[in-house]
Amino acid sequence: MLLEVKNLNKTYHAGKVDFVALRNINVSVKKGEFIAFAGPSGSGKTTLLNCIGCLDKGESGSIFLDEIDLMQKKPVELAQIRKESFGFIFQTYNLFPVLTIAENVEMPLKLLRRNSQEEINSAVSSILARVGLKNMENRKPLELSGGQQQRVAIARALIKKPKLILADEPTANLDSKNGEAVVDLMKELNEKEGVTFIFSSHDKMVMKRAGKVYNMHDGELVKQERL
Ligand SMILES: Nc1ncnc2c1ncn2[C@@H]1O[C@H](COP(=O)(O)OP(=O)(O)OP(=O)(O)O)[C@@H](O)[C@H]1O
Ligand SMILES: [Mg+2]
Repeated sequence: MLLEVKNLNKTYHAGKVDFVALRNINVSVKKGEFIAFAGPSGSGKTTLLNCIGCLDKGESGSIFLDEIDLMQKKPVELAQIRKESFGFIFQTYNLFPVLTIAENVEMPLKLLRRNSQEEINSAVSSILARVGLKNMENRKPLELSGGQQQRVAIARALIKKPKLILADEPTANLDSKNGEAVVDLMKELNEKEGVTFIFSSHDKMVMKRAGKVYNMHDGELVKQERL
């Protein structure tokens, strides 16, 4: 199993009030799966994705990535695991506006310090072509449409070939045509190249394309049975 979340709980302690955001979450993800977390606003989708991706920490339970329990790791070890193993796609793209498209996309490889600049440049061109943005290297994010910016974010998430891509509402800021194109691209990368995705969404169109859908409600996760 690539990922196994076991009995994960998380409470936010904001001021005097404690808020239980995740209750006893159990979910397993195999390599090559395409999984969606659905659920209303505030149900805990972002919190769960952030805990899996080591951007936030659960309070109790386990998160095994390739049999290693991330909950037992120190922050410095988690930073390394995050750099190596996860790709992130966010609702608002989170590109650096002052950097070019190439500089945005190459950043995860630069952080890993394993490749020469020539290798990085060639990886950037091929990944940009893969997401339909050939020859866009020198543009800036704000010269692109929302759909194109999200493609840049997908390229950035993919470039280091992570074990798992976590996408938090990747289509929520896009119109339906661009949203569908982004999901189609993710689906194609999943089917043709075996990239594993976990994403959250409110969007019914996105859900229809997912292999498995889990519904979240008040911090609980329940697998949706297909009819
Ligand atoms: N830093 C925080 N401190 C306190 N409470 C928080 C914090 N972050 C989130 N919460 C609360 O935890 C709950 C789950 O939030 P989360 O952002 O995970 O929901 P979500 O399902 O992603 O919602 P949306 O669909 O609106 O993005 C919400 O009730 C939210 O108010
Ligand atoms: Mg959210």
